[in-house]
Amino acid sequence: MTRHPLLLIAAGGLAREVLAVVRESGHEVLGFLDDRHEELPSTISGARVLGGVDDVTLYPRASLLVCVGSGLGRDRVVARLSALGIESDRFATVIDPSVRNPAGCPIGAGSILLAGVVITTDAVIGEHVVVMPHVTITHDCRIGDFATLAAGVALGGGVRVGRGAFLGMNCSIRQGLTIGIGATVGMGAVVLSDVHPAETWAGIPARRLGVTE
Ligand SMILES: CC(C)(COP(=O)(O)OP(=O)(O)OC[C@H]1O[C@@H](n2cnc3c(N)ncnc32)[C@H](O)[C@@H]1OP(=O)(O)O)[C@@H](O)C(=O)NCCC(=O)NCCS
Repeated sequence: MTRHPLLLIAAGGLAREVLAVVRESGHEVLGFLDDRHEELPSTISGARVLGGVDDVTLYPRASLLVCVGSGLGRDRVVARLSALGIESDRFATVIDPSVRNPAGCPIGAGSILLAGVVITTDAVIGEHVVVMPHVTITHDCRIGDFATLAAGVALGGGVRVGRGAFLGMNCSIRQGLTIGIGATVGMGAVVLSDVHPAETWAGIPARRLGVTE
């Protein structure tokens, strides 16, 4: 993971899930930074709420993990951190010990892989990607930066997931397809054709519901 103490940026559900994984490993967590800190309790799940995102500069030796649930939100926060001089080597990667990655597929900085994820072989996981429990990523998949794969997603071989795309719980993507940048796939969808950037698809077989302007 990282040898430095960890700061979790955002204090919502994803951050608490990460906290549980990190604690189990015995790694030190300094606490949360969240812009809503004045409305939040002083501790959450036993970890301190230390301030807002800009207070990151007070912790120059901490490793960082952006735990905003939406990929777009993570992208915005990482851009803010970058403007504050934070470079990519400051970001930790959190991988639950139950994740299977026997071929050692690369996983980018800032990414979070929760329990039971399986990566078979020759896949590449980008930066600040969130992969929730029991996702299956098979051979030759490419997961773009800031993508989010909700629990139970299954990707056939060679699937491309664009930057910031969101794949809802238990959707299945046929092998060889591309899910475009910023696209959304609804929970339970069975996707049989490419999804263009920013489009939302759902259903069995999946159909286009709309497009984000
Ligand atoms: C697809 C999704 C993004 C659409 O959300 P939305 O834009 O708010 O859409 P609405 O709920 O207004 O539904 C619009 C229509 O799509 C249908 N619909 C919504 N989600 C659907 C889904 N997953 N499968 C099939 N149909 C769906 C609705 O029934 C509705 O149909 P209607 O117009 O005939 O009444 C959302 O329903 C979804 O599946 N999100 C993923 C949830 C998830 O995985 N959460 C995990 C959190 S970690």
